Amino acid sequence: MNEQTLSMRLERVAAHVPQGARLADIGSDHGYLPVALALRGVIEAGLAGEVAQVPFASAQRNVRRNGLQEKVIVRLADGLDAIEAADGITAISLCGMGGVTMCEILERGKNRLNGKQRLILQPNGGERELRGWLMENDYRIVSEELLRENRFDYEIIVAERCEAVAYSAEELYFGPLLMREKAPAFITKWQRMLRQKQQSLANFERAKDAIPQEKLGEFARQIGWINAVLA
Ligand SMILES: C[S@@+](CC[C@H](N)C(=O)[O-])C[C@H]1O[C@@H](n2cnc3c(N)ncnc32)[C@H](O)[C@@H]1O
Repeated sequence: MNEQTLSMRLERVAAHVPQGARLADIGSDHGYLPVALALRGVIEAGLAGEVAQVPFASAQRNVRRNGLQEKVIVRLADGLDAIEAADGITAISLCGMGGVTMCEILERGKNRLNGKQRLILQPNGGERELRGWLMENDYRIVSEELLRENRFDYEIIVAERCEAVAYSAEELYFGPLLMREKAPAFITKWQRMLRQKQQSLANFERAKDAIPQEKLGEFARQIGWINAVLA
């Protein structure tokens, strides 16, 4: 992967960035996403935010190597602190981190969210918690995707601020749009998850004494939801 050839995962994230956006990519690592989108003429301006020195330096190198210093800013900062009001950011991407870490970044950086930016999120796990944060903070999920690359399932969640939105426990778990669409990748993922969960539940039941009853109940509940969504 590099700024010319993105992974399929980042390519699908890129597809949700509107033409002419001013994109802040937080936790940008090498800065591949904003650099690629600037090279393609998709974004008007880009910001690569990084909290760690080594990826920050790598993003700076990639921006310089491509002659994009006028178009893509690289900032060393924690989470949304990288965003300044004068940047006029219209889209924020957070990719390749745990969903719970993303919730913490969004929660800590709430003062940088002006309600007009599109959030493009690709969590590695913790999708349910992330959707919960979005609902609690009045963000409606406007698009969702599920893809498999290198034996991992990735979900992309795109959200925009709204008046108020309510999702059921099942919608937070599966994704409100993904569970409605039931694309082949969704069916395959949840068939696999069902087998894993049934196996875990059988193991738990054999070791009944050690496993708290609520945990068994939660597993059984999730298996019920998966059976229902696949039915
Ligand atoms: C696994 S990489 C993902 C890189 C890229 N976004 C992608 O999806 O390919 C996660 C990056 O997030 C950065 N990161 C983690 N916590 C962060 C924070 N609070 N603020 C900014 N960057 C953060 C890490 O330093 C790391 O470079």
